[in-house]
Amino acid sequence: MRHDIGAPMPGFEIFGEEERKEVNDVLESGVLFRYGFDAARNGHWKARTFEQALARRAGVAHCHLCSSGTSALSVALAACGVGAGDEVIIPPFTFVATFEAVLSAGAVPVFAEIDETLCLDPDALQARITPRTKAVMVVHMCGSMARIDAIQALCRKENLILIEDACQSVGATFNGKALGTFGQMGCFSFDPVKTITCGEGGAVITDDTRLYDLAHAYADHGHDHIGNDRGAEDHPVMGYNFRISELNAAVGVAQLRKLDAILSTQRQYKTAIKDAMKRCDQIQFRELPDPDGDSSTFLSFMLPDGESARSAARALGEAGVDGCFYWYDNNWHYLRKWHHLKQMTAAARLPAQLCDNAQDYGAVRVPQSDAIMSRTISMQIKLSWTPADVEERIAKIEQVLKRA
Ligand SMILES: Cc1ncc(COP(=O)(O)O)c(C=O)c1O
Repeated sequence: MRHDIGAPMPGFEIFGEEERKEVNDVLESGVLFRYGFDAARNGHWKARTFEQALARRAGVAHCHLCSSGTSALSVALAACGVGAGDEVIIPPFTFVATFEAVLSAGAVPVFAEIDETLCLDPDALQARITPRTKAVMVVHMCGSMARIDAIQALCRKENLILIEDACQSVGATFNGKALGTFGQMGCFSFDPVKTITCGEGGAVITDDTRLYDLAHAYADHGHDHIGNDRGAEDHPVMGYNFRISELNAAVGVAQLRKLDAILSTQRQYKTAIKDAMKRCDQIQFRELPDPDGDSSTFLSFMLPDGESARSAARALGEAGVDGCFYWYDNNWHYLRKWHHLKQMTAAARLPAQLCDNAQDYGAVRVPQSDAIMSRTISMQIKLSWTPADVEERIAKIEQVLKRA
């Protein structure tokens, strides 16, 4: 059965007693807010605990939780000083949150091509850089990575800010280093369909204390968080409310402890399916710059052309191989179907429409990305499968793809 809320990743599949215990700690104290109420909270600081654990795991100095992955992107852009009229280079294969966050910042999204990593192509980036380019927002799609070393080198050479949207790739690494740690800031999402979930939530990570202080303040109305009287706190900057609640953070504390087990199961199932698919003709796999760092949330592969990919996706669904996403025809993740962006249909006029470098998104052409995405199918890897389910799945996949 096809899931009707997008492309789910597995955190929600293993929600259990551990999550309930952490949430109950918060319910019993009645302190649902992450700041203050020190005496009443019985020693429970779920947001802080989650932040410390995530920072430790990613190997960075700082982590700040936000209300969503989208707000994490907004917080990162603000902390990095990206604002009115600045151009931000983004990929056309991503979630709509990427351009939404850039537009909300008053900045101007500029699309660059992806390569067969399904992420921004470092070789295509240079051509999109203008004197107005302030940042590159690379998106590590579907659990794996961009050629982040090359993108990092280019951003350093061109003096551009690098923000990593690793919302879909928590736990993934490149050469042993966590995704999200290659640029000035990295972002994660813990919405209900991510590798680990806290209901709704996100995080920014950074090694830069100045950026962390700005992010922390910006995400909470500019509060400096000095002392224990919120009314007496100063506001070093103007901000907004992108706070997470203690209840959501509590779920994340338990989920993060399960991340290694999640990754290990995903890797085992993905390897079994991929090995079997290597025996099918005409299949090419997504390029993985560091296969060992793949979080294995999805298995993405390409057919020789668009028509065979579209019909293979349909045939896989009909054969009962669920969770196969043909993004080229899907409204969520590819520029081709984002009619609202192409026509700039917004609830209210956007700053980007007033800029002298405003773009016509209806006229954007990304032929290299079209050629890749029209051939690509991503197959979800689920934790709830048994080894027998995986075997049965492999048999069905072979039956469909051997005649593709
Ligand atoms: C690549 C990417 N960026 C950002 C987000 C936004 O995360 P959230 O749903 O937590 O706002 C998502 C969510 O699907 C995503 O896939």
